[in-house]
This record gives sequence, structure tokens and C-alpha cells, in this order.
Amino acid sequence: MPYQEHEDLLFDEQELLEEDRELLESIPPDLDESLLQEARFWTRIMKEHALFILLGLPADRPDLREEATRFNEVFARLERALERIDRLNGKLLRHLERSLVALINFKERLLRLLLACNLPGNALFPLLVDHITREAKRFLHLLSRPEPENRLQALLQEHAFWLRVMKEHVEFVRHLLDPSERTLIRQAEEFIFTFSRLLETANELESMGSANPRSFNTVRRFTEEVIQRTKELRDFKAAAYELLLTCQVLSIIPSPLLADHIRREADKFLSELSLFVPTEAGTK
Ligand SMILES: [Fe+2]
Ligand SMILES: [Fe+2]
Repeated sequence: MPYQEHEDLLFDEQELLEEDRELLESIPPDLDESLLQEARFWTRIMKEHALFILLGLPADRPDLREEATRFNEVFARLERALERIDRLNGKLLRHLERSLVALINFKERLLRLLLACNLPGNALFPLLVDHITREAKRFLHLLSRPEPENRLQALLQEHAFWLRVMKEHVEFVRHLLDPSERTLIRQAEEFIFTFSRLLETANELESMGSANPRSFNTVRRFTEEVIQRTKELRDFKAAAYELLLTCQVLSIIPSPLLADHIRREADKFLSELSLFVPTEAGTK
């Protein structure tokens, strides 16, 4: 889809909010608070994905660069609109869903180009594009307000989704560091080893959990380990962000914002785990 077709996604913020206000006043408060928090978190993430795509696109593809810029602007507007409401519903929700579907299509189109080697001169790992597409699909799924699942299944799915994300983050960092950054590369490799192992276990526990056991205490012990390791990874990402900001690290990381972005995703994983095991994950 050429970028001109996204023209209609650039809405007038004021007009949209006013149209929604009347409708929202008639709806009683419910679980919308958490949906709104999710939407605010993920909309910012989507806006940044569009920027990272733009930074990795080759100079001779102004069409794709324009499209990425447009998505960055669409999600920046949505982000501002979400800050000004206290309940997500109506037109804004529908607009968010439509924008998200368009962004997922764009990411998948890019991935097809990358997989067929039809985007020479790019600086985008195909796995990164696949990764950010998965994140966008999770956001779209959350917006559909899925029915609450069995608590054990929900926790195991949480592990399987986020541990894969955490593992890939550090794999991207590992490959973007300058070869001379031996200490940081070594640390990244240790995290890759740790998170690959945790992901493998999570997949196995998820498979066993599908038998609906009456008790499965190993999952609790596993969750405590995941929280501990994720806190360490979160701190590594936060330290990398500081080093990038002060130009104390050699890399081809396109922007310090990437380190902050993946740090925020680690904190999001921890905050979601805190709903299952409040005491451990809640302690920073
Ligand atoms: Fe992301
Ligand atoms: Fe991510």
C-alpha cells in the first residue's frame, strides 16, 4: 500500500476527542483504566518502531521512508490523544485499531522485501522486523479485550511471549556493538545464554501446563527466577542507555532511544509478572 493511502489515518485530534466525549460519558467506569494504560504504553512503542524502521531504511527508498515517517506521526498523534482521555472507547479505539492493522501490514511488507533480498542497503535485521511485528500483533489482540484465561495458562503464555522478546533484545544489542566492545559483548552473550535457556523451559512448562494440573508449584519457582534475571537484564539495558547518551560506547545502535525502548519493555514484563507474584516483581 503506497503511503498516500495512509492519509486518512492522520486525524484531527480535537475533533475526534470531542466526538467521543458524549459517547464516553454514557459508559460506566470499568476495566477501561487498564486498557488505557496498555494502549498508552504500546502506542509509544509503535511510534518508536516506526522511527527505528525509518533509521534502518536505505536512502534510495524515499517511498518507504515517507511511509515510516507517516506512521511515526500517526502514532505520535494517537499518543497525545490517549493522554487526554480517561477511558478508551468509541472512535479513538477504532482509529487506533485501524492504524495498528496498517502498521502491521507495513512491517510484514518490509519483512517480505528483506526475506527476498529486495531491500539492498538497509540496516534492518529481518528478525527485528519480525520481532516488532509480533509486538504490534500482541497490542492489537489486547485491544480486542480478550476473555480472562485460566491463570496458569495466562502466566505461562506471558513467559513464552516475553522471554522470547527479552532474548531477542540482547541478541540485537550483541550484533550492533562494535567488535572492540569485548566486555559488553561478553555480558550480552551471557544474557543470551540465560534467556535462551529460560525460554526453552518456558515453552516446556507451557506445554505441560496445557494438561491443566491442579497444582504446578514449579511454575512459581520458575517465575521467581525469571523475575530475578529480567531485573538484571533491565539494569543492563538501562546502563547501556546511559553509555549511549554520553557517547561512551562504540556501536551501530541507531539511537540511544533503542536502549531505552527495550528497557521499558523489560519493565513492562516485570510489571505484568507482578500481577501474578506481587511481592517479588513489585520490588525494584
Ligand atoms: Fe519494541
Ligand atoms: Fe521488543
